[in-house]
Amino acid sequence: MSFIISTITQQDAESVSKMLHHFWGGEPVVAHDMAFNPSNLPGLKAVMDGEIIGILHYQIGDAVCEIITLASLKEGLGVGSRLLEAVEIIAQDARCRKLCLTTTNDNLHALGFYQRRGFKLTALYPGKLDQSRKIKPTIPDIGEGGIPIRDELRLEKGLENN
Ligand SMILES: CC(C)(COP(=O)(O)OP(=O)(O)OC[C@H]1O[C@@H](n2cnc3c(N)ncnc32)[C@H](O)[C@@H]1OP(=O)(O)O)[C@@H](O)C(=O)NCCC(=O)NCCS
Repeated sequence: MSFIISTITQQDAESVSKMLHHFWGGEPVVAHDMAFNPSNLPGLKAVMDGEIIGILHYQIGDAVCEIITLASLKEGLGVGSRLLEAVEIIAQDARCRKLCLTTTNDNLHALGFYQRRGFKLTALYPGKLDQSRKIKPTIPDIGEGGIPIRDELRLEKGLENN
């Protein structure tokens, strides 16, 4: 049950695209009034038996590392944790002050997952998904556990760098 974390390359485009469709209904990924195209961003993958089972895309700017995607096809094996650890090292090497990300109010599992790994809630944007749907109308109305997807939450983890 072991997997290896490495950088996403052009050869991974098809598998990564399938994962982006599976988890985000394809590109773009909309967060915080912005449309991100993960296929143009740096990313990390987790590979088990030759198959990509996890992805993480990120963007580094202004001493902040923004996590744009994180997804695991084999939950509970440590894939998400190892991808987060790997991007934290990259962000520290790039002298970032913090890791940031956006999630939605329905994603209770992710909210727990990130907070157990040192992330703190920093902002709530009630009703933000109305604006996101103007950019990407295919964002579903109902999310995890039948919860209406309405709001964005921002989380951050400070890095020891600075
Ligand atoms: C959030 C996510 C990336 C975590 O990935 P993962 O590979 O399961 O991560 P890990 O195995 O490192 O840890 C998962 C945690 O959930 C638990 N868990 C996850 N899936 C589980 C399952 N099916 N059964 C039991 N426990 C599970 C693990 O025990 C672990 O618990 P902990 O936080 O107390 O340590 C994954 O659930 C996912 O892809 N979710 C859908 C996409 C998503 O919402 N991404 C975040 C967008 S902001």
